Amino acid sequence: MSADREQFGSRLGFILAAAGSAVGIGNMVGFPVAATKNGGGAFLLIYAVFVFLICLPVMLAEMSVGRHSRKDPLGAYNKLSNGEPHWKVAGWLSIITPFMIAVFYLVITVWIFGYLLHSIIGNLDMLADPNTFNDFINAPMLFVYMAFVVGIIYLILQGGVKEGIEKAAKVMMPTLFIMLIALVIFVLTLDNAMAGVEYYLVPDFSKINAGVVSAALSQAFFSLSLGMGIMITYGSYINSKADVPGAAKMVALTDTAVAFIAGLLILPAVFSFNPDTNTADLSDSSVGMIFTFLPKIFLALQATIGYMGASIVASLFFLLVFFAAITSIVSIFEVPVAALMDEKQVSRKKALGILGLLLVIMAGLASTSFGIIGFFTEFVGYAGQTKSMFDVIVDVFYDTILPLNGLLICLFVIYRWKKANFNAELDKGAPNYKSSFFEKYVDFSVGTFIPVILLLVFINTVALKYFGVALVG
Ligand code: PFF
Repeated sequence: MSADREQFGSRLGFILAAAGSAVGIGNMVGFPVAATKNGGGAFLLIYAVFVFLICLPVMLAEMSVGRHSRKDPLGAYNKLSNGEPHWKVAGWLSIITPFMIAVFYLVITVWIFGYLLHSIIGNLDMLADPNTFNDFINAPMLFVYMAFVVGIIYLILQGGVKEGIEKAAKVMMPTLFIMLIALVIFVLTLDNAMAGVEYYLVPDFSKINAGVVSAALSQAFFSLSLGMGIMITYGSYINSKADVPGAAKMVALTDTAVAFIAGLLILPAVFSFNPDTNTADLSDSSVGMIFTFLPKIFLALQATIGYMGASIVASLFFLLVFFAAITSIVSIFEVPVAALMDEKQVSRKKALGILGLLLVIMAGLASTSFGIIGFFTEFVGYAGQTKSMFDVIVDVFYDTILPLNGLLICLFVIYRWKKANFNAELDKGAPNYKSSFFEKYVDFSVGTFIPVILLLVFINTVALKYFGVALVG
């Protein structure tokens, strides 16, 4: 099977696809809001340090395991551990986690698609109404939108690695960059824009505490699409002549740059709308920000550029976020698809059909957990809170298992697969990496403090989420 494994057509294609995965909803709104609330430039600094000193080595671990094994994550753990049963658990986690994250990410992507359509057809005033969101997420129309979005994902993935994933990234990523820059330039010309920039960037180190540090790490880890099996899977589609460390650096840099630039779009827009904005008023969640806060801000633009102008800006914004979301969800859904193809030797079409159906069922059920069906809305209770099915998926797979998967890949690479193999794999195609300081740093960190830090994040999350005990922050 591995001899004719699909491959990316070029290094640039691989970088754009991996960056497409990394650049997602987390970058567009999650990062700017987290930075503004948690010390501005100070948060940015800590975030950047985490991206390069902690997340980049984990990304290299994932990509090297993928490229060496030329397998999906389940097959990769299996092959490189010679079938040891306990590593199979890590393999399974690396394909179940992305599937479940795809479920909740699909729900949000469907909402974004709906908001995009409404902005385009002139319903921005409706979107800006505070009651709209709640009605919108409980309307049957949602399932029609879901069919569209799943159709787009299917169309991209059925084209395969080169003609599907890579082609889509080559079109969508440059378009995304252009839309982002155009919107930033526009927003920076608005009155009071500089107040937003100031709020976003002026460092306030007094806000930094253990909780903020831990949030910055989680944000960075999620933003680089780590712990989801994605970089293992994409790594398995690159040839052994490619420079993996160089490509990984480009991906990390692009992801961080987009997150940073997105802040220059969101914050000035917020402050131009209301110069007295108190950062405490900013919604805590990306969801609140995208679907209730920002539409209001876009509508307010009609005073200066008219309703039509405001609708164009809103449409461009939602299209931008939609593109970011699609390239991410495509990457995450490719993981279970690749696993089914590799492990059961089924065709890409069949794997997509089976898993696509499962995804639609699960995302459909998750979509009913905001009020449509009581059972899913009040699904379980822990740590004194009632949780919907959607909340449970986010808590378990996104918050809890991601750092655990990161921890497992680090331990696997250094202690099971072994450092020498890891380094040898990364040296291929990267002559300058061999014996460099960076190489020494990567294999030391992956074998020592990075797993320790990820373990602490994991323990802290479990204590907080399920037992209501705050260990830090
Ligand atoms: N890097 C993505 C983001 O920041 O939104 C993380 C991601 C989430 C990737 C969900 C893929 C995905 F389906």
